[in-house]
Amino acid sequence: MFSQLQQPPADPILGLSIKFKSDNKPNKIDLGPGIYKDEHGETPVLACVKAAEQFRTANETSKTYLGSAGSALFNEKMTQLLMGEDHKVINENRIRTISAPGGTGALRIAGELINKCSNTIWVSNPTWANHQGVFTAAGLKVKTYPYYDYQNKNLDFDGMMEALKQVPKDDAVLLHACCHNPSGMDLSREQWQQVAELSKEIGFTPIIDIAYQGFGNGLEEDSYGLRLMADTVEQMIVCSSCSKNFALYRERIGACSVIAKDAASTDIVHAVLLRVVRVNYSMPPAHGAALVETILSSDELTQEWHGELQVMRERISGMRHLLVDTLKAKGVSRDFSFITRQNGMFSFLGIEPAQIERLQDEFGIYIVNSSRISVAAISPSNVDYLCQSIATVL
Ligand SMILES: Cc1ncc(COP(=O)(O)O)c(C=O)c1O
Repeated sequence: MFSQLQQPPADPILGLSIKFKSDNKPNKIDLGPGIYKDEHGETPVLACVKAAEQFRTANETSKTYLGSAGSALFNEKMTQLLMGEDHKVINENRIRTISAPGGTGALRIAGELINKCSNTIWVSNPTWANHQGVFTAAGLKVKTYPYYDYQNKNLDFDGMMEALKQVPKDDAVLLHACCHNPSGMDLSREQWQQVAELSKEIGFTPIIDIAYQGFGNGLEEDSYGLRLMADTVEQMIVCSSCSKNFALYRERIGACSVIAKDAASTDIVHAVLLRVVRVNYSMPPAHGAALVETILSSDELTQEWHGELQVMRERISGMRHLLVDTLKAKGVSRDFSFITRQNGMFSFLGIEPAQIERLQDEFGIYIVNSSRISVAAISPSNVDYLCQSIATVL
């Protein structure tokens, strides 16, 4: 049986990290993976998570099954975090949230849910590298709409709207809530308004992927678009992740929220989603959810989390400015100021494949082929070397 299998192509980002680990250059920098790093290059456990873990160890009384929806308290807290406490979909009893194994797990079950009533999802060009694979594996046809204008380092909003106007009413459209991966280019409030109105007019179903809430401009600010969308349309899906904003990467916790036109319809969508879960992995992992619900149930731990999230957010934004200033100081004449107008962990440097190759071979600086960099891997101690190296290859 196995002899029929062929070696699949290496994952471009994970493959890069493996190469990085075996590189002996002393100043090497890995700008590939979307992992937050502090100024020492570490990805520490948050203090609020440590405190929640101690609480859990002391107070957990059972490890019995929780059911396919996971922890009800986590689901409620996530709904509030995403929508705010007083959103109309909560008041009208039109939203159901279930725990999922990370943002990826949430996207996969959302994909399978969509596959039960439609067959096509539209994603931005470009989008997170795994969207295509996850939705294809869920049985969907994946189409793209224009999003990033590589030439002008800006959003191609006209192109996006033109394409979305052609989307058939039963199709799904994936939108990044904030900190667009890989471009860092987000919709403005006015643009969200236009997309929401178009979705309402045409009837396509928005699937909002929110993997970086709190990493852009703040918890509330980063959920503006999805809340507006939920205010405007009858039905949508939200796939969220606690990997980045709670730094719970390996605990695999996120959520999938479904919104439908009334309470009874939402119950049906929810029940179908739970069937999808049951035949996939039966039930989600509990540990990460327990930590998040403990933090969000305590005013003190929530305050601490807000503070730690702010530190991460401000460090990333600070590095965007430092990168652009240092490139200028190294005599680079090309305008990189667009990097300071983008949000979250990622931006495209916009340099050529041959330059990316030189950065890797000569300087031990690892960047994926598209020239996407993880700004969160830059620190005051490596920015000088990084910018000198970029200046040399330019
Ligand atoms: C846009 C986007 N969606 C979803 C995910 C998945 O996150 P998780 O690690 O929680 O599965 C990521 C992770 O990088 C992402 O960038």
